[in-house]
Amino acid sequence: MPVKKPEILYTKLFINNEFVEAASGKTFAVINPTTEEVISNVSEAGPEDVDQAVAAARSAFGNTAPWRTMDASQRGALMHKLCDLLERDMDYLVALDTLDNGKPLCETRGDVTYTIGTLRYYAGWCDKIQGNTIPCDGEFMCMTRKEPVGVVGQIIPWNYPVMMLAWKWGPALAAGCTIVLKPAELTPLSALYVAALAKEAGFPPGVVNVVPGYGTIAGQAVSHHKDIDKVAFTGSTAVGRHVMAAAAGSNLKRITMELGGKSPIVVCEDYDNLDEAAEVCHTAMFGNHGQNCCAGSRTFVQESIYSEFVKRAVKLAKERVVGDPFEEKTQQGPLVSKVQMERVLGYIEKGKSEGAKLECGGARQGSQGYFVKPTVFSNVTDDMIIAKEEIFGPVQVILKFKTLEEVIERSNNTTYGLASGILTTNINKALTYAQAIRAGACWVNCYDVALPQTPFGGYKQSGQGRELGEDGLAEYLETKTIVIKV
Ligand code: TAP
Repeated sequence: MPVKKPEILYTKLFINNEFVEAASGKTFAVINPTTEEVISNVSEAGPEDVDQAVAAARSAFGNTAPWRTMDASQRGALMHKLCDLLERDMDYLVALDTLDNGKPLCETRGDVTYTIGTLRYYAGWCDKIQGNTIPCDGEFMCMTRKEPVGVVGQIIPWNYPVMMLAWKWGPALAAGCTIVLKPAELTPLSALYVAALAKEAGFPPGVVNVVPGYGTIAGQAVSHHKDIDKVAFTGSTAVGRHVMAAAAGSNLKRITMELGGKSPIVVCEDYDNLDEAAEVCHTAMFGNHGQNCCAGSRTFVQESIYSEFVKRAVKLAKERVVGDPFEEKTQQGPLVSKVQMERVLGYIEKGKSEGAKLECGGARQGSQGYFVKPTVFSNVTDDMIIAKEEIFGPVQVILKFKTLEEVIERSNNTTYGLASGILTTNINKALTYAQAIRAGACWVNCYDVALPQTPFGGYKQSGQGRELGEDGLAEYLETKTIVIKV
């Protein structure tokens, strides 16, 4: 049965378990990137609304509040209940993010499944967060307690709307924090829906709050807020800089940040299946339309297999099915907004003018909706802008290398350090590369295998701290040291 366009149920701010208008009464339009039509108008949070959401979260974090006095195992049960409701409404959520973001059903199904997996993974942690007893000098006994960091502000991007929420909510809720979430203004709808499910699951008022609005207004109010204990941000490196400065300039709130990347994926000549190598690199780049912080956006191919690889990469890009994201066969929908489409087309023009060879694509597709043809550039050199900056669109950039030593150096020659990959059948090469690369992840003979259990985050200007896994949980905990004279 074809997936139906969803009815929009929630368009107001979610504060203290109620949907409320913005104090200013303002709304903003949410646009369907496939048709360029308005989907709905959503309440626009301003500083006053953020204050109210923070007050609700602070009150829910009070020492005697239900959320703080609840058994940790009960907290886990609530998170599992939320997951049950997400499973019940999976088809609706899939359709909602497809409508709002433009990503095809195959992508949003993956996102919602991953969302549930992440929340269930962290639900299991709730009653397993424990400190140590530490032998110490003198007549003392020392124990540590792991305590929630407090009220957390979370600012998320539009590229994986519901999944980014889960990456943020999972560890925060498991730790026992309370939340003020600012979704991206381009894709606020699924966060509001999940907030309604949290209320239905039985989360006490104020534990989760959702304040859609503009980054420069609601986002800034969160990052500058003096009663928020930690801010977790995912988005561009440029905005990450502002968020960090705001945290320092307000109350020195803790920060974690997932930022941009220009991640290398290296194909060695010994890899025994060139078709498979081309597929892995294609998915690494074109998955989620290239709107992926850890996209394999610098494809390095060893010179002896370079031209054969390029042929295969071009064939795959030409075969990619671009169109209505509600069609089951579609692999690539529109980019999320006109601004993003123009940005990506701008990079394509830079690639052409700098002398890279345009193998296919290279233009907008159609005249309605923000579609960009899957694009492949070969003969790219490290000094070209398309090899240096994050394009965040369906543009594959293929570079040539001779030796492993050379490709290690070139891979590391970037201000970013989010992810990397290498395809080789030689374990020594794989380990040499994995140890030498200055990035938060190295995937060997696969790519973008970021699982709920595996830490994810950036070196250098790709971020601060980690998400997912036990490391992600630690970012939401404080350590209290209790020393007793015996
Ligand atoms: P950003 O501007 O970084 O937006 C990310 C989030 O931060 C959104 O919720 C945004 O709100 C908010 N924000 C914006 N300015 C803020 C400020 N001054 N203070 C606090 N919060 C603020 O990213 P974008 O504009 O959506 O995309 C631009 C580029 O960033 C992309 O082309 C891509 O290169 C990169 N990007 C990276 C990622 C990841 S996962 N690393 C994700 C998205 C984008 P609004 O939605 O209202 O602007």
